[in-house]
Amino acid sequence: MRALVTGAAGFIGSALARQLLAGGHRVVGIDSLTDYYAVSLKRANIAAVAAFVSEGTQFRFVEADLNDIDLVALLGEVDVVFHLAGQPGVRRSWGENFGTYVRENVAASQRLLEAARSATHLSRLVFASSSSVYGNAERYPTSERDLPAPVSPYGVSKLAAEHLMGLYAANFGVPTVSLRYFTVYGPGQRPDMAFTRFVRAALDDREIEIFGDGSQVRDFTYVDDIVNANLAIAASDAPHGSVFNVAGGSHVSVNDVLAIVRDVHGTDLRVHYNPEVSGDVLRTGADTTAITEYTSWRPAVDLTDGIRRQYEWAEGTELADPSSLVKS
Ligand code: UGA
Repeated sequence: MRALVTGAAGFIGSALARQLLAGGHRVVGIDSLTDYYAVSLKRANIAAVAAFVSEGTQFRFVEADLNDIDLVALLGEVDVVFHLAGQPGVRRSWGENFGTYVRENVAASQRLLEAARSATHLSRLVFASSSSVYGNAERYPTSERDLPAPVSPYGVSKLAAEHLMGLYAANFGVPTVSLRYFTVYGPGQRPDMAFTRFVRAALDDREIEIFGDGSQVRDFTYVDDIVNANLAIAASDAPHGSVFNVAGGSHVSVNDVLAIVRDVHGTDLRVHYNPEVSGDVLRTGADTTAITEYTSWRPAVDLTDGIRRQYEWAEGTELADPSSLVKS
């Protein structure tokens, strides 16, 4: 397969690009290296991807913005597009930041879809959507048939892009599939996300900052499970324009996570509770039956094991206080 991975320098995009190369595929990675978090981390991710090139595989990295580059030429070369580029971060998507979310998550996706219309080899375009589209869902576990009602501008931008995926599938036959990722974690996790912050604070004996009382529940998903879901759906015959939840199956609270981190760390944690933050949903929890109807995908890594792997990765990584790595 000749694959294009957008957002190849990011946490999940780089993990996917590595797995594609390990599987013998040819990969073009594109990323504009935005400074939302330290660009040095993104460059390190790209270097780690390049290290996976072996005989018969190929990796080409293009540093460019999807809003500017000639996408028709880029898509002309590929069989599958994994579209992971975007502006992440649920809690920062308010105020003047929203323009960035519209540009990176909505406008860039629409531009990619326009180019995909004329991409003659393209058999699949997999879009990285988000559990954030559900907001505080009408029921749990939440299925793709439940009404999305985002509670953050970030969620709105992801839902808009998902709708574009559906429109281009219905009108022009673009072979899109949207995967709704549920809070992804594991080695390499972004420095603005909970587990990186919790584990780093534990290792450095700093206070862990919790938003709210820690009772919010998440269906956390290990990064390898997300990567495998992308590969499985790319090879499937799922209908164009379809949408699937991808989740790990752990419906636990942030306080439960702290208990696991404490066990893995071996000593008590210092925890500080703060007011809750607008845009944060109270609970996510996925019904993942739909994707299993088209693929043999199942989540394989349970939460305790996954947290241990992330802890061991963090132990072996020289990383500054994650707060200092994220744009304020
Ligand atoms: C994550 C990603 O950041 C989004 O890009 C993604 O789209 C989303 O998952 C999703 O599944 O849709 P989030 O669930 O907020 O968003 O993930 P974390 O940043 O890891 O936060 C998990 C929970 O821990 C949240 O309730 C958050 O408020 C809390 N948290 C996070 C803290 O209490 N303290 C922190 O320092 C960070």
